[in-house]
Amino acid sequence: MHINPIQLFDADSSTFTYLLVAADGVSAVIIDPVDHHLERDLAHLQRLSLRLCYVLETHAHADHVTSAGRLRERTGAQAGAPSGCGIAPAELQLVDGDVVKFGEGEQIDVLHTPGHTAGSMSYLWRGNLFTGDTLLIDGCGRTDFQSGSAAALFDSVTHKLFTLPPDTRVWPGHDYHGQSVSTIGWERQHNARLARRSRAEFEALMAELHLPRPRLMDVAVPANQNLGLPHGV
Ligand SMILES: [Fe+2]
Repeated sequence: MHINPIQLFDADSSTFTYLLVAADGVSAVIIDPVDHHLERDLAHLQRLSLRLCYVLETHAHADHVTSAGRLRERTGAQAGAPSGCGIAPAELQLVDGDVVKFGEGEQIDVLHTPGHTAGSMSYLWRGNLFTGDTLLIDGCGRTDFQSGSAAALFDSVTHKLFTLPPDTRVWPGHDYHGQSVSTIGWERQHNARLARRSRAEFEALMAELHLPRPRLMDVAVPANQNLGLPHGV
């Protein structure tokens, strides 16, 4: 059965949070929650009578702070994070090929997709691919800080994500243009940065971007490495 995630948005950082509800209608997983939407997200869980099993992070974000630690406290869920992102308090230190199970037979496949950061992961559930900042709709995440690598991102997307079935739905970590979902087939054909481009062309393109440093970076990355909780907690 095809199930879409519930897509939630943070207008301050243009971040998407995803609520995955199992076919049993009870078990749930949240991906990339944002700190100031904690009460909104808890209200969704309560309204739908959901039991939150896991809070997953795609990477240690530089542009917003996660609510994973507080969501965990309030719901009893466990936190899962890429093993290479330095998010020590997460119970699940995920590596490529891991499977996160929840509900009755639900499974989330963990795909290591380095490039935006060295540890970045994508998550695949029921034909829904949560790409974090690795692959965006008609774009991709930046690769110029946090151990980013344009070459690694190119390989992650073209060798790993673009080999998934074309009808795999792409649910990005951000969107700055008002789009919410795409497919692997569409992005493979039309993605403005990655489609029909060589690795060297992509590296040159990314080197020319000269993006400003994220406003919250010095605060957000250390906070996110502690699941958004004050250090020492
Ligand atoms: Fe990011």
